[in-house]
Amino acid sequence: MLTNIDLEKMNHLMETNKDAKEIITQLLKNHDAAVATIAHEIRNPMTVLYSSMQLMSSLYAETAKGSCVWEECMDGARHMCDLLDDLTELNNGNQLNRASFPLGHVLRNSAVLFAMSLNFEKSKIEMTSSIDKNIKRFNGDRTKLEEVFLNILTNAKDALADCKYAPRLQFRAKKLDDKILIQCQDNGCGIPTEIVDKLYEPFFTTKENGTGLGLAVSKRIIEAHNGTIDITSDHTNGTIVSITLPA
Ligand SMILES: Nc1ncnc2c1ncn2[C@@H]1O[C@H](COP(=O)(O)OP(=O)(O)OP(=O)(O)O)[C@@H](O)[C@H]1O
Ligand SMILES: [Mg+2]
Repeated sequence: MLTNIDLEKMNHLMETNKDAKEIITQLLKNHDAAVATIAHEIRNPMTVLYSSMQLMSSLYAETAKGSCVWEECMDGARHMCDLLDDLTELNNGNQLNRASFPLGHVLRNSAVLFAMSLNFEKSKIEMTSSIDKNIKRFNGDRTKLEEVFLNILTNAKDALADCKYAPRLQFRAKKLDDKILIQCQDNGCGIPTEIVDKLYEPFFTTKENGTGLGLAVSKRIIEAHNGTIDITSDHTNGTIVSITLPA
């Protein structure tokens, strides 16, 4: 949305002119609300359509099985549902439903469930996790944070497809003095320096079936919790995604 806009000029205007700041802020809010409304309106019928297709797949299993056309339709519908989910999430990312919950337990659960899904897929990835026992309760949006953990784990898994080395994924979390540090490390393909600045841009993706919203959504969610997200990467050692949350 901010493509073709001189951001420096816009920021200067906002700093020096109170009316301009108010109008630009409102325009941005209106834009977010419009995208969220459209995504929401399309998402409901789309979800019904996809659920019906799933039902048809089981009712007519023999016909559906092995039909390329049907597979294409299912893939397309699933992709649309994911995209609309992410779009809604992108625009709701900073509206938190806060409550106190056991963060250590949630981190451990996310790791276990992800490792199970790797097992189920018979993946070659060796996943290890270490979650500090001192991570106790946290006041935040549990569902949204679970989504962030899943996003970064899934990105690591994707980066490990066609890995030159034995693919490894490490998920760890520890409590420091004033913050909780959560890291997801993979020894996968790494991120070329020329795209590092684009990673959090909505719709930026290098994947054939990616929506490019995972990191954009994750950043909004983490920053809404007054946390930070940072990615360091190189071709030889892979990638580390570091998230901090206030302790
Ligand atoms: N661990 C990683 N290793 C290598 N590249 C990564 C990693 N994490 C993210 N990326 C790069 O950042 C891009 C953006 O990631 P993001 O999660 O926002 O979108 P995506 O994974 O492409 O799609 P989706 O919206 O389905 O998550 C990816 O396409 C990939 O190029
Ligand atoms: Mg992703």
